[in-house]
Amino acid sequence: MHDTVTEIKSRLSITDVIGQYVTLVRAGQNLRAKCPFHTERTPSFFVSPERGTYHCFGCDKGGDIFSFVEEVEGIDFKGALKILAERAGVTLVYSTKEKTDERDRLFALMETVTIFYASRMPESAMSYLQERGLSEASISSFRIGYAGNDWSSASDYLKEKGFSSKEILDAGIGKSNERTMVDKFRNRIMFPIADSAGRIVAFSGRVFGEHAHPDAPKYLNSPETALFKKSKVLYGFNRAKLAIRKHNVAILVEGQMDLLLSHEAGWANTVAASGTAFTEEHAALLKRMTDNLVIALDADEAGIKAASRAARVALNARLRVKVAALPSGGDPADFIKQNGKDAWSGIIRESKDIITFLLDVVEERAKNPEQFRRSVEMAVIPFLHDVLSSIDREHYVREIARRIQVSEQAVNEALTKSKTITIESHTQEKPAKVRQEFSKKILDAYGFLMWQKSVGAAGFDRDSYEQELKDILGKSVFARLDALSDERVEALRFNAERIYGDRDRTRSATDIVRTLTRERLDEEGRELNKKILISERAGDEANTMRLMTQRDAVNRSIAKLEK
Ligand code: CTP
Ligand code: MN
Repeated sequence: MHDTVTEIKSRLSITDVIGQYVTLVRAGQNLRAKCPFHTERTPSFFVSPERGTYHCFGCDKGGDIFSFVEEVEGIDFKGALKILAERAGVTLVYSTKEKTDERDRLFALMETVTIFYASRMPESAMSYLQERGLSEASISSFRIGYAGNDWSSASDYLKEKGFSSKEILDAGIGKSNERTMVDKFRNRIMFPIADSAGRIVAFSGRVFGEHAHPDAPKYLNSPETALFKKSKVLYGFNRAKLAIRKHNVAILVEGQMDLLLSHEAGWANTVAASGTAFTEEHAALLKRMTDNLVIALDADEAGIKAASRAARVALNARLRVKVAALPSGGDPADFIKQNGKDAWSGIIRESKDIITFLLDVVEERAKNPEQFRRSVEMAVIPFLHDVLSSIDREHYVREIARRIQVSEQAVNEALTKSKTITIESHTQEKPAKVRQEFSKKILDAYGFLMWQKSVGAAGFDRDSYEQELKDILGKSVFARLDALSDERVEALRFNAERIYGDRDRTRSATDIVRTLTRERLDEEGRELNKKILISERAGDEANTMRLMTQRDAVNRSIAKLEK
């Protein structure tokens, strides 16, 4: 494993990896970007190509390409390894000696059963999907399969392949039935749900087949397992993420069929909530890939409610939200089937921003202007609380005022009066941490040293610089600096690299030492001035004289330093 990590690191540059997710701009020796992990206006996220690390001064996150991919894709280390290995063209070989943990076993189980279901696809299910507009290519690339009428064929197959009953239960493929175990999914078309590295973590099964129970729910999803947290996984995300980044917009639909047909229609940036509410975590995942979301849910009452809820969540993650207006009653899958790709593209392109969409819905339903105004006050204005950008909010206030023909001030008053139901959000801007224990100059000086230690500096006498620092700062201060956390030191390295990266090391070191010395002398001078004042007031002339002599010496040292 260790060798694989090194091999991958040697093949991939950190700028290429991170550059896939954010726009990097040169800043001296480093590159700089707006942090993908927290919201910020001015970039405080830095990448060091030389050391293969990144650090954000705003939220303090930092590390290497692996931790970056873990964080940005919301995935575990092995998932990041898989993504990066694929990018680097490195084959992952799991040696048998290597201890495979429970999660690995569950991933292997899900993979095995995916192949099993796909191999059991009957002709009837195939033609059903094709009739609904899916191509054979998508059916196979989305790995759609079938769970038949047998009580336990999937579980039996997995046992044959060496998985235990407990593992089959833990994976949500089997369920206990009195004393035996039976398959959870039967008579269903199986849609595998993958994590962002493409590993299958769950299934959504749609009822299909002559033996299906008439009362069976139309869709059945895997239970939450060690691999599957439904609030974190979006159906199709692993296949959509590149397109989302490329086009800088994601499309959110409700169901499996909607997603598949949207992909089929050329919108590879589509993801589906797949029967669960769109959560803050979903929004955060998308926000790392794009700033824009188009919500395309069913055009019925429930769909509009769901769209509004999803919109609020998305707005709170600072996504720009638009809503695609489908003709009422329909869902994207049926719409695409009936009207074709171009019509779907038209719907996406003409999607309205969320406030306009809500105004239109409310206006359509209102019987008179008076009722329209009241509905806007109740159903649209509260939305403005979720619009975190004050510029956007002002724009919406103007739009609302125009539509209901009142003054902007009236809209603003209604906004203030309306209650806010805030959704907790961890993507909000955090104030930079203030640390007071060392002066900035001391931290810069120490960061310079740590940076040089990490890069194996040639032509620069690091040891004598270190000695000088110790002399100026004193042993105890130096010991406290050495006790700083790794993350903290990494931040200091970045800072030093940012400040001094383009300059000559030796000259920089001389400057640093001089500045520190000066800082110290200034400090001493200030202390002496205070003492002199006290001494003078007390009328202690001898002491005052002595202090003034000391003060002169400090002044001379400062003058000498400035020459
Ligand atoms: N869903 C679910 N559980 C249900 C019903 C629906 O998880 N009991 C989810 C599924 O992800 C499904 C989506 O909600 O794809 C849409 O459900 P629905 O509107 O009921 O599906 P239809 O559009 O009628 O289904 P299909 O297109 O497959 O005919
Ligand atoms: Mn549908």
